[in-house]
Amino acid sequence: MKCFVFILLLTDLYIPDFAEHIMVTPPRTFLRLAAFALSLIAGGASSAHAQQSAETLHQRATAAMCSNCHGTEGRTVEGSAIPSLVGMPKDYMLLQMKAFKDGSRPATVMHQITKGLTDAQVNTIANYYANTKR
Ligand code: HEC
Repeated sequence: MKCFVFILLLTDLYIPDFAEHIMVTPPRTFLRLAAFALSLIAGGASSAHAQQSAETLHQRATAAMCSNCHGTEGRTVEGSAIPSLVGMPKDYMLLQMKAFKDGSRPATVMHQITKGLTDAQVNTIANYYANTKR
């Protein structure tokens, strides 16, 4: 998609006042159409990348519900009573979330939070923090 925007920007740079001349300069119209078609092909080639980004976005959005207390991207300020989550190993996170949920790890708030989450959500969140660099 970046490529797509880039090519459109380029055609705009090389064809100033495109909208005004659209009726009188058919070759330029053709050029722009060709560039558009090219960018679609380039966009198709990078669809695997786009899918990866969608998955990353989904992870980020799900994990964002923790950031009120654990900080943006799970980074708390130094000296905070609330632990950081960024870079937390997935297995450790899953174990803690389970322990909060079943009450085997005492908590002030996390037992409540975990009750509202499905296993799939916890898994997504654990992946996000494990794969985010400290
Ligand atoms: C309302 C504030 C709040 C929110 C929101 C919150 N947490 Fe917590 N979290 C805490 C507190 C406080 C603790 C310390 C344990 C306790 O007292 O509940 C904690 C502890 C933890 C721990 C244990 C860390 C360790 O080092 O053992 C994990 C893991 C954790 N939270 C994950 C999450 C995840 C994942 C989310 C988002 C789904 C989340 N928390 C949302 C406040 C919060």
